[in-house]
Amino acid sequence: MNADGRTRLNQTPEWTALAKHREELADTHLRELFAADPARGTGYTLRVGDLYIDYSKHLVTDETLRLLRELAAATDVFGLRDAMFRGEKINVTENRAVLHTALRAPRDAVIEVDGENVVPAVHAVLDKMSDFAERVRSGAWTGHTGKRIRNVVNVGIGGSDLGPAMAYEVLRSFTDRDLTVRFVSNVDGADLHEATRDLDPAETLFIIASKTFTTIETITNATSARKWLLAALGDESAVAKHFVALSTNTEKVAEFGIDTANMFEFWDWVGGRYSYDSAIGLSLMIAIGPDRFREMLDGFRIVDDHFRTAPAEANVPLLLGLLGIWYDNFHDAQSHAVLPYSHYLSKFTAYLQQLDMESNGKYVARDGRQVDWQTGPVVWGTPGTNGQHAYYQLIHQGTKLIPADFIGFARPVAELSEELKDQHDLLMANFFAQTQALAFGKTAEEVRAEGATEELVPHKTFQGNRPTTTILARELTPSVLGQLVALYEHKVFVQGAVWNIDSFDQWGVELGKVLAKRVEPALTEGADVPGLDASTKALVAKYRELRGR
Ligand code: F6P
Repeated sequence: MNADGRTRLNQTPEWTALAKHREELADTHLRELFAADPARGTGYTLRVGDLYIDYSKHLVTDETLRLLRELAAATDVFGLRDAMFRGEKINVTENRAVLHTALRAPRDAVIEVDGENVVPAVHAVLDKMSDFAERVRSGAWTGHTGKRIRNVVNVGIGGSDLGPAMAYEVLRSFTDRDLTVRFVSNVDGADLHEATRDLDPAETLFIIASKTFTTIETITNATSARKWLLAALGDESAVAKHFVALSTNTEKVAEFGIDTANMFEFWDWVGGRYSYDSAIGLSLMIAIGPDRFREMLDGFRIVDDHFRTAPAEANVPLLLGLLGIWYDNFHDAQSHAVLPYSHYLSKFTAYLQQLDMESNGKYVARDGRQVDWQTGPVVWGTPGTNGQHAYYQLIHQGTKLIPADFIGFARPVAELSEELKDQHDLLMANFFAQTQALAFGKTAEEVRAEGATEELVPHKTFQGNRPTTTILARELTPSVLGQLVALYEHKVFVQGAVWNIDSFDQWGVELGKVLAKRVEPALTEGADVPGLDASTKALVAKYRELRGR
């Protein structure tokens, strides 16, 4: 029994039933499941917004899905979902509401935190961002010397970088191509150097994005950026025209020297990794324009409404979350691959890594006790065709089960030339071929029939039975991006709810931050830092020697 009165997850009858069912299915192959049900290819599909979801190539039957939904019911996933949408403080370790869904709520919605409707403030900030974005885009906002802003550099890390950086790439064909937009996150000075070396400071706007405005990497880079600017423009008053802040911390923004009139606010109920549709998206909004940004928010909302209202059998985030649990907890899968067949989604999986792994990389349950079941998987992947020539071998014939999401689009982006658009069918032929090969493999008989020598038969045989979800949309638009991100946000939510962990804190990253601060004087001054272990001490000494200190 948990301290919160819940029976421990892996002792519930629903869990036990799934474990038993897993044993019963152990020898079942997808080939048999498809042979037994000719309608599986269309029957095991769902729709949400513009997304067509095919889950037929999963190692599941109707019974598996029923048992998984029972687990979701037993763990009250929908109860927690409703509490989240209502603004209850479901982030228990930080005593905070979790309301990224309020960031895309319509103007007339009422969502209360501590008795106050937060929606008017959300729209006030969106309006302020829109006004600012338009002024930058039109040239009405000029730099200190009167020159037009042509370069926008977002300085932030984690959730204050990955979201806008990913979305900027995804929506590149919708961006104003006359603007240069770059993202600096790494405290390695090389990042800021490469991002600014060919820019004219008089034409450059820095957007300092930090929820807390205390993150050492971001404050260090922002300080260096200010020096770079002032070295060229001379005058401290230039900062007001070239620096804006995105934060929840007015005091720290003012302390840094940014006029709080140039601050775009968000709130503690927006988690960093859930924040790019808040003020954190300002760089993206400048790049694509306010209208497209709002189209993206509409996309998020389509999936929010679906997740909130669709019955369990048709609820896509619920389904994807439960499928993950099926593999993670009942097949010992350690990782989950996300493989987009779109060059524009090249940073999508990196974005999902924070969303998923920072949310569900936890071994402590909400009641403070250690879990004795697996929680979040390792999330990884790169655009599919490139992956095919790198790591797909292991997915096809390795010893590990790696469930994968394949994301593709029926139409290439409008901006491509006709000739380049023609390449799209080849791209998508790969997309469909891979999930087919992963599911059905190739039998020894098929290999023999092709004339392979007997020694080569085992090598050329593919077991198949590798599960995949196919997510297909007509085209990549701002709305579709919003739909995809919201889909994964809620999938992660579902899994955290079942595992009974707090998906909205991130205490695990704190220790490294504290230790970095403690170790730094040992590197710079050779200070004798108390508590350094023998290995780290020796490494620091070697570093100082190699560094020439
Ligand atoms: O990596 C830890 C973390 O706190 C993330 O959750 C967050 O997105 C990131 O640091 C950046 O934080 P901030 O926006 O406060 O600078």
